[in-house]
Amino acid sequence: MNLKENISLKELNSFGIDVKASNYLYVQTIDTLKEVLDQDRFKDPFILSGGSNLLLMNDLDRLVIHMGLKGIEVLDETNDEVFVKAMAGEVWHEFVLWCIEHHYGGLENLSLIPGYVGSAPIQNIGAYGVEQGACFNSCEVLDRETNELVTLSKKDCEFGYRDSIFKSKHKNRYIITSVIYKLQKNNHKLHIDYGAIQTVLKVKGIKNPNIKDVSEAVIQIRSEKLPNPKELGNSGSFFKNPIIDKDLLDTLQKTYPEIPHYTQENNQVKLAAGWLIEKAGFKGQRKGNVGSHHKQALVLVNHGNATGKEVYEFAMEIIKKVQEQFAITLEPEVRIIK
Ligand code: EPU
Repeated sequence: MNLKENISLKELNSFGIDVKASNYLYVQTIDTLKEVLDQDRFKDPFILSGGSNLLLMNDLDRLVIHMGLKGIEVLDETNDEVFVKAMAGEVWHEFVLWCIEHHYGGLENLSLIPGYVGSAPIQNIGAYGVEQGACFNSCEVLDRETNELVTLSKKDCEFGYRDSIFKSKHKNRYIITSVIYKLQKNNHKLHIDYGAIQTVLKVKGIKNPNIKDVSEAVIQIRSEKLPNPKELGNSGSFFKNPIIDKDLLDTLQKTYPEIPHYTQENNQVKLAAGWLIEKAGFKGQRKGNVGSHHKQALVLVNHGNATGKEVYEFAMEIIKKVQEQFAITLEPEVRIIK
């Protein structure tokens, strides 16, 4: 076991926060994972995946297990569908590109989302009208209570908007080791309703897009709008888009008739957190080393050497102002480790 001590995690979290791990292990086999979890001294390890949805506020005085399980394989197929298993340590975007190369449709709208495959189900990643839950078949997890592998179905995972059992009732219980997606081999069902996708396809003169065209359109939109974490530390959307009662929307519309909103079930609507933050005056603003991105207010950025506490304080300031102005409490989407 190649256990390391006192390792900086700066390069391993997309916010680029410089904290240290007292112990660090890059895990490449399930046997090693089991072996290490069996040791009493590593009772409460921290599982590090792509580090792209994470705000680290302090040094971690515990073992950091960096997910290094790799591999993609076809498990089964019919004339129309294929079951593909990807190990948790595969880079998500590379997996999406692999699917597109093999003409397997379903995940193309999720191109260029940072992070590893194993984190995708945790917050049910989504973009441009598609969530990973739509193609999810099952996942294999290591149950920390028993140190045994278990298979969880889509139903077991209880996916919601940026939500699953891995964030709620079974938080910290399971370590996802692989995910199986059910993808389409032909008659791909494209999701191109999202305005920005249609605009890109139109500009490119593409009338009958395929999954590669959709992926390329998404890559273009994301690259134009969202900062590249390699150039400017960030964790994508810092807050979830709030879901509120329609009554509150009616009240807000009297002052802000243009407020973007998306109808949900049960007389509720989803608002755009980025819009609220912009209207609260934070878009493009900077405080010390931290700021709100000038093209997408929902993305908080590290302008260099920010500490986790600075990012956190800036986020709290945003929550307070949005609360005062709109009577809405934003919830962080990013996992904050205090
Ligand atoms: N908006 C503003 N000002 C801003 C940002 C957005 O007015 O600074 C408005 C936009 O004009 C638009 C609306 O807010 O009317 C929604 O904006 P956008 O389409 O950029 O999407 P989003 O709701 O801000 C969500 C996801 C993103 C995902 C995009 C595209 C969440 C928390 N975020 O953002 O996911 O890429 O939709 O589908 O649901 C992530 O989770 O890290 C992430 C980037």
